[in-house]
Amino acid sequence: MTESMKGKSIIVTGAASGMGRGVAQLLTERGANVAIVDPAGKGLAETKEILQKIGGEIIAEPISVTDLEAVHRLISQVQSAWGGIDGLVHCGAILRYAGSLETDLETWREVIEVNLTGTFIVGHAVANSMVASNRKGAIVNIASVAAVIGLPNLAAYSASKGGVAALSRSMAVELLPHGIRVNYICPGFVESGMTEDILEEEGARERMRKGTATGDICSPRDIAEACAFLLNEQTGGYIVGNGLMVDSGVTIQ
Ligand SMILES: NC(=O)c1ccc[n+]([C@@H]2O[C@H](COP(=O)([O-])OP(=O)(O)OC[C@H]3O[C@@H](n4cnc5c(N)ncnc54)[C@H](O)[C@@H]3O)[C@@H](O)[C@H]2O)c1
Repeated sequence: MTESMKGKSIIVTGAASGMGRGVAQLLTERGANVAIVDPAGKGLAETKEILQKIGGEIIAEPISVTDLEAVHRLISQVQSAWGGIDGLVHCGAILRYAGSLETDLETWREVIEVNLTGTFIVGHAVANSMVASNRKGAIVNIASVAAVIGLPNLAAYSASKGGVAALSRSMAVELLPHGIRVNYICPGFVESGMTEDILEEEGARERMRKGTATGDICSPRDIAEACAFLLNEQTGGYIVGNGLMVDSGVTIQ
């Protein structure tokens, strides 16, 4: 096991499940101190237990990425415990299936609030803390292939993820002079809490596999490896404002 993130202090949102949990696990294995965030308290406690078994220092807070004050409190807590913040992996999001004809305003606002405004709130607060403490770092936001291709039944979700991609590029340009690299990842279909209902349908796994170029779907670990690559200055140091497609080749077909 490498310890390429040794001593780094990283915040991971949406860590109660799926990719967030996978990212927190991989970073802990690589020696990072990880602060995990998710309003889903039970899943968060399970992730904390997994991380404690691996070792390393863990902070776990059951907060929403839409709550700016709570995010500020978390940042202060991380700064007091570990002296500052080196990175953020922002995975927290929700999915609501509805096309543009059916999406009601309440659903639209809920999805945009969590997925897009939440990305702004966490990124804005973490970046300000890095700039104020003159600390270099990296931010990885999880967008989606829905940010770049048209998918049916996902109007608000697609719009939110397109926004995450655009916000990441804008922040990348602004923050590079401060030594902060911002990138985003566009996963295709990944086995996680968000997709477990779909995968329970008969034949769904096979259908999903057939829709990819590689013939297989990604795991949270695959996404975590890509996050670690982008976070690490040695591997991702020259990658800025990039949207990395980790999608089993869905978008090249
Ligand atoms: N699973 C896929 O196929 C897929 C594909 C493309 C992109 N994504 C994106 O990947 C990221 C991770 O999702 P996942 O697939 O691991 O799903 P998941 O449902 O397993 O994980 C998402 C986590 O976000 C948390 N969350 C929800 N609202 C939150 C809030 N207000 N504040 C903080 N956390 C909150 C949930 O509690 C959950 O633990 C999301 O941004 C998702 O949109 C997923």
